Amino acid sequence: MSWQVPLADVRFGSEEVEAVSGVLRSGWLSQGPMVEQFEAEFATLVGVPYALATANGTAALHLACLALDLGPGDEVLCPSLTFVASANAVCYTGARPVFVDIQGPGNLNMSVADVAAKITERSRAIMVVHYGGFPAPMDELISLAHRNNLRIIEDCAHAPGGGYESPSGRKKLGALGDFGCFSFFANKNLTTGEGGMVVTHDPQWAKRLRWARSHGMTSLTWDRHRGHAFTYDVVSQGYNYRLDEMRAALGLVQLSKLEQFNARRRQITGWYREELEGLTSLALPFLNELDNSACHLFPIILAPQVDRHLFMQHLAAHGVQTSIHYPPVHRFGYYQQLWPAGFDHRLPYTEEVAAREVTLPLFHTMTDTQVEIVVAAVRQFFR
Ligand SMILES: Cc1ncc(COP(=O)(O)O)c(C=O)c1O
Repeated sequence: MSWQVPLADVRFGSEEVEAVSGVLRSGWLSQGPMVEQFEAEFATLVGVPYALATANGTAALHLACLALDLGPGDEVLCPSLTFVASANAVCYTGARPVFVDIQGPGNLNMSVADVAAKITERSRAIMVVHYGGFPAPMDELISLAHRNNLRIIEDCAHAPGGGYESPSGRKKLGALGDFGCFSFFANKNLTTGEGGMVVTHDPQWAKRLRWARSHGMTSLTWDRHRGHAFTYDVVSQGYNYRLDEMRAALGLVQLSKLEQFNARRRQITGWYREELEGLTSLALPFLNELDNSACHLFPIILAPQVDRHLFMQHLAAHGVQTSIHYPPVHRFGYYQQLWPAGFDHRLPYTEEVAAREVTLPLFHTMTDTQVEIVVAAVRQFFR
């Protein structure tokens, strides 16, 4: 289907093409100098000492779970209104995600009260997802985590460049918890096609992440190529979760443009809000938040009497692609099978929002005309 306004779109400049071509011409394709530079610049952006590039965002989340030594018998508090990868990464270790409700239709981030209510002696960590790039309530979550000896993994797949006003000053999302995990999937604010990054403040965790990312090995092919090592030991369980040089080169160019990309996303978000706020048949979550958001998604919540399917069909007929973020994880067949009904399936706000949410197109190359097309199609549906 060719959309007049797709949900997301990627357009690269000649800088990206040149950067990737440069790697191809160099003849060194696997993790090497580009990855090192990408990691260093990403660490600077987030304001952390350690950043490790990964094959994708799910690998970054899995590595964080591994660094915490999560395993069978452990529980991780996790929103259900997220992409399934947040919960899957926990399950890979044998630990179990305990699903937590969102705050409500006005704020789709996890409810601190529900996290507190679901802490048990088996709880080890909180998986905090910054939904749509809008910061979760980190101060409250961090103090809850400290009081209960829990670790925090920030799932920042939607939030590269997003910020947070904390009592100790403005920080970047990903720098507040014990780990920050990012995705560079094709529809993300910064993309390398597939790719990710895990960041941390802790040198010991950084070491464990590094080992687990590459088979538990103590040196890389790149180290041996440079004569920095002749052999290696295998010191932990490990995976092949490395990023390659082409993607790192692409990521470096994208990173240099991220602030500009996010500024355009914020501008479009502000504009959408001005145009849609008056409509009584829908509500706009996160209405008072803009400056700190990476504005990855533009979610709207339809009034209960509105037929979502018809609404989405109407927009599609006008060439506008929409989506749903998200079908809640606790409702998926696999998860129901793992933990049959009766267990932590009481997530009233998640259920309500999941039934009424629609995501409108948002991407940094979206033209003013494309925004107008979306707004006009939405308005026409409600007339
Ligand atoms: C909230 C969230 N977490 C994790 C991921 C996983 O990232 P990736 O697709 O790079 O593995 C995504 C990606 O779509 C996401 O939206």
